[in-house]
Amino acid sequence: MLSTNKKLLTVLNGQSVWPPPVWLMRQAGRYLPEFRLLRQQADFLTRCLTPDIAVEITLQPIRRFAFDAAILFSDILILPWALGQDLKFVEGKGPVLPPIQSEQDFHKLNAQHAIEKTEPVLEAIRRLNKIVNSPDTIGTAAAQSVTLIGFTGSPFTVACYMVEGGSSKDFSTVFKMMYENPSLFGKIIDLLTQTTADYLCRQIEAGAEAVKLFDSWGGLLSVTLFDQYVVQPTRQIVNIVKSKYPHIPIIGFPRLAGTKLQSYIDGTGLQTIGIDQTADISVLNKTIDQKIGFQGNIDPLCLLHNQNILKQEIHNLCVELKNRPHILNLGHGVLPTTPVEHVYELVNTVRNLK
Ligand code: CP3
Repeated sequence: MLSTNKKLLTVLNGQSVWPPPVWLMRQAGRYLPEFRLLRQQADFLTRCLTPDIAVEITLQPIRRFAFDAAILFSDILILPWALGQDLKFVEGKGPVLPPIQSEQDFHKLNAQHAIEKTEPVLEAIRRLNKIVNSPDTIGTAAAQSVTLIGFTGSPFTVACYMVEGGSSKDFSTVFKMMYENPSLFGKIIDLLTQTTADYLCRQIEAGAEAVKLFDSWGGLLSVTLFDQYVVQPTRQIVNIVKSKYPHIPIIGFPRLAGTKLQSYIDGTGLQTIGIDQTADISVLNKTIDQKIGFQGNIDPLCLLHNQNILKQEIHNLCVELKNRPHILNLGHGVLPTTPVEHVYELVNTVRNLK
């Protein structure tokens, strides 16, 4: 049900709001001292899979900055973990998984118990939904105005990590499989498409008020492969989720899609799109239908440095997008070295826009 004091839901439903709602990708993270404290007490997976901890971390940035959205503290790699792929987060390296490189590796994955394994994540969502919708439970004026966002990675981006076995500069192992064993890569994408749609539906049933599909690496693909591995699977997910929950907004974030953005919008039917900092927002504003909402696209590096430039960038962006649904966000996640005061500055600048 649409609650009118949730600015973010209003924008996700196609209206522009001034000043725009604001939240940041990776708003719960290492730049926050209270996050670093919890980080010493439990490893990454434990933090994701212990509802008390996931709830607490999700709320940390809301208490400080009264953001318009609380994004569930979790990770896009929880789904491969739930499918049975071992997952570790190694300090200084990031995620490490045993790579899926053969039919045998693929057949070890098991979709049957995947949703059961995500139960602690769903429990965190249930608790968070209660908290953000009860007066005074967060202890800020923001209570009841905060929208709870659930998320997954897109099949392509999650497949990148599953096949490569972790992060990579160019995901060359993934490209090798796409060109040399498209049948296996197609099976991985199909499995992820079904389980991602299912997982998003479960998150909505647990209380996610909007959901987001993170596609960090789809932009690397050629036009043909982008259609095959990004647009078509995303469209299937959108169709499945929308057929069950037509009123729940879905945000797509096809990072670095560049000139493929229009085909992503046309092909997926998504109404709100995350825009990365490399995109020319004034060009997009002229060429993309005014009904499509934009979320973005302040450079996370700008947040690190010059506050006068930051304020000017926020002002220019918000004025440019004043007549379209717009959610102020970064073009990618908050960097761990970001000074906390700069995040206050960003939020105050947005909230004080005239
Ligand atoms: O946005 C949020 O605050 C919600 C939580 C969230 C995390 N990861 C927490 C996290 C979300 C939405 C993600 C998405 C995610 N995870 C993506 C897509 C967005 C993007 O950044 O491109 C990707 C590619 C991942 C995979 C992942 N998780 C990597 C490559 C890493 C290591 C890099 C790093 O920053 O350390 C992670 C770890 C991770 N996920 C952290 C957080 C807060 C750092 C955890 C820590 O070291 O304590």
